Amino acid sequence: MVSVKSSSKTSFSQNLQELIEYPQDGILSKVLVKDNHSQYSLFCLAKGTQIEEHTSTRNAVITVIEGQGILSLEGNDIALRPGVFVFMAANAPHALQAAENLAFVLVLSEQPQSQPRISQQTIDIVKSTAPLIKQHGQQITTRMYEIMFRNHPEIQAQFDMSAQANGFQPAKLARAVWSYATHIDNLDALKSMVETIAHRHVKTHVQPQQYPIVGASLLEAIKDVLGDAATDEVMAAWTEAYQVLAQIFIDREQEISHHPA
Ligand code: HEM
Repeated sequence: MVSVKSSSKTSFSQNLQELIEYPQDGILSKVLVKDNHSQYSLFCLAKGTQIEEHTSTRNAVITVIEGQGILSLEGNDIALRPGVFVFMAANAPHALQAAENLAFVLVLSEQPQSQPRISQQTIDIVKSTAPLIKQHGQQITTRMYEIMFRNHPEIQAQFDMSAQANGFQPAKLARAVWSYATHIDNLDALKSMVETIAHRHVKTHVQPQQYPIVGASLLEAIKDVLGDAATDEVMAAWTEAYQVLAQIFIDREQEISHHPA
């Protein structure tokens, strides 16, 4: 992945023909410009490259510049050739095959209404626990890792265990959980944090099915550390809140795996 121009603050123009270069096999993509809501990239696929069926949580537009290929979109095959424009609605399953070297511009754009709905009660309760989470954060996350590694020792292989021992990883997680508690009513404010963590998760091969394991360990740790303050209402609110955050990561990580930026 090469970044040609990463700020959307200034206008610019670019001759795409000069940027097109094909790898020997696979995909070369270049980010032309991006901001919090959209990303414009040039994709160059070597002849024979296949992208397996996947979905994106963002709307996507393909504009073909040169070459030939087939886009399977929601079960229909669309012939890609120069000048073809395709709009793919968020969550539409799609797959791609390059019959020749194929270059296109891909635009990914956020749907503003895609912010998950969290009940007001949950938002209020989780926000009210933010000071406690701040105060006891590291104790909670240290306990969480203890519980998780005891119940699922196999997960340790994915972690840098020296960062566990010196407390860096529990401290980072504690900060993330506290930020979430503080900004649960404005998830946009968490975007850069989600980006950093999601990229780290993709690098360390975190899988969607591991989220319930982390969730159960975190909830148990919150209960252990907060004691009486962890009432049934608090636990129910954090259960709902965790699921929403987990889904945000799962969606973003799936996207990064398929459209790395
Ligand atoms: C909502 C749930 C989660 C939150 C808030 C979270 C938070 C974090 C944070 C803050 C980091 C540090 C990122 C950095 O280096 O800057 C991280 C890294 C990491 N997370 Fe998560 N995470 C979550 C779920 C998971 C799950 C389900 C797994 C699966 C096992 C996982 C495994 C990892 C691993 C392996 C790392 C890299 C640690 C290392 O380099 O040793 N996380 N996570």
